[in-house]
Amino acid sequence: MDRKNVVGNPLLKTYAPHITRIDEALATEMGTHAGSEFHEPLLYSLDGGKRIRPLILTLSAECFGEADENVMSAACAVELLHTESIIHDDIIDNEMLRRQREPFHRKYGYYTSVLSGDFVLGLILSISSRLDNARITADLARTAMLMSEGEMMENRVVEGEDATFEDYIKTIHYKTATAFEAAAKIGAIMGGGSEKQIDHTARYGRNIGIAYQIRDDLLDWKNEDKIFNMLVRRSADPRDVFDEMEEMLKYYSGLAREALLYIPSGEARAGLEGLIGFTVLKA
Ligand code: IPE
Ligand code: MG
Repeated sequence: MDRKNVVGNPLLKTYAPHITRIDEALATEMGTHAGSEFHEPLLYSLDGGKRIRPLILTLSAECFGEADENVMSAACAVELLHTESIIHDDIIDNEMLRRQREPFHRKYGYYTSVLSGDFVLGLILSISSRLDNARITADLARTAMLMSEGEMMENRVVEGEDATFEDYIKTIHYKTATAFEAAAKIGAIMGGGSEKQIDHTARYGRNIGIAYQIRDDLLDWKNEDKIFNMLVRRSADPRDVFDEMEEMLKYYSGLAREALLYIPSGEARAGLEGLIGFTVLKA
């Protein structure tokens, strides 16, 4: 079975109280749009996600303070951004399955998929306006733009057939790691971390995000038409590419671990550290 569609959330065992709270916040957020055409489709698209980004946001806030209602709202914004990116990515990649079910565009069609993007943009702006923090709005905006840039880059590079490892890392940094980075950074800002602590937390997010995508690509390499697959196809010995990827995975998860050393120790930091374990390849 495709690993991407394995039932159950592997993070639930360790992070159940946090994930429950995130799911409640998402339900409340969506509940305010119960009359919307997009209500049911968006609930479908939110269902079954692991919630790793809102988890990072919440734990990052708790490293420095408490995760209040505003923190939970910001966590919802980050999860919504991720959810919409998946709806669009599944169209681009022509996926037939997501989380063991029909992808959004196959169930609801292209009209709803395209328009959900506009709706979710509005939702995120609306959440952001409630937070009343221009810095956080700017971070969310920048993240949305960089994620789109990353997708564009990936599709251009794949068509050009001349990708390098540098292109690969830049692409996954933009399309995936920026959301992890924003989650960590926004959490640290809202929790009341110092500027230095905010930087270190953001660095944790960026590096765990890169490691997370490398792991995902290593496990899914057969299924996807991605830059990484092109690197494999073009190499004299694919083993070299896998070795390099595994080295990079260790390198970036090491950087994420190192960044945490500058954050006050405690349960929340241990939670962030535990998530790094989740990017490790198990034999
Ligand atoms: C999938 O992200 C897309 C990638 C960036 C690898 P997740 O693995 O966080 O997806 P869900 O939300 O848990 O299904
Ligand atoms: Mg894609």
